[in-house]
Amino acid sequence: MVSLVRPAEIDDAAAIARVHVAAWRTTYRGLLPDDFLASLDTLRYEERWKRTLSERSDRVYVAEDIDGLVAFASGGHERAGETGYSGELYAIYVLREAQGRGHGRRLVQAVAGGLREMGLTDMIVWVLRDNRSARDFYEKLGGVFVRSQPITIGSALLQEVAYGWRSLDAIRY
Ligand SMILES: CC(C)(COP(=O)(O)OP(=O)(O)OC[C@H]1O[C@@H](n2cnc3c(N)ncnc32)[C@H](O)[C@@H]1OP(=O)(O)O)[C@@H](O)C(=O)NCCC(=O)NCCS
Repeated sequence: MVSLVRPAEIDDAAAIARVHVAAWRTTYRGLLPDDFLASLDTLRYEERWKRTLSERSDRVYVAEDIDGLVAFASGGHERAGETGYSGELYAIYVLREAQGRGHGRRLVQAVAGGLREMGLTDMIVWVLRDNRSARDFYEKLGGVFVRSQPITIGSALLQEVAYGWRSLDAIRY
């Protein structure tokens, strides 16, 4: 299978937004309200991704295969002031039909490389408590449970949990 992970460019914004919205709808069906998922607007996400990519402060990577751009991930400085963590995996989404082919693992590897380039040595990620399959993925990569906290998304009050790697070298690919 042809597969490439590379840094995202501004021209990828539309394709990233399409993956973003499609993956949210499949991943969070049943976890987030239907009307919230239906209201996600690909054009709005495209504008947001264009901004993010032009600011160049986050590291964003995309994965392509024969079907085109099928996944993306981003990371950068830890955002919430969590003690002991300076790097964060902000987002990782693989289209459902492209899951289980190694894109997720390769994207985490790319983000970890980006964090290293920024001089960061560890990584935290937040995930919805009930997103069991993503939690299994992080656990498989050696992520250690850090803590949980409430989060509001749309009108839904949920719980999210954090996994951490005290050293980027501890990520088990
Ligand atoms: C979670 C996600 C990023 C994993 O990416 P992926 O490309 O499907 O995973 P990979 O093919 O790289 O798998 C890497 C390893 O993790 C394991 N893994 C992946 N998903 C898993 C799951 N749901 N349960 C258990 N193990 C899993 C794989 O078995 C693989 O190990 P192996 O090669 O020894 O079998 C992807 O499935 C996804 O985008 N899910 C929906 C969106 C989401 O939940 N994102 C995270 C939000 S915080």
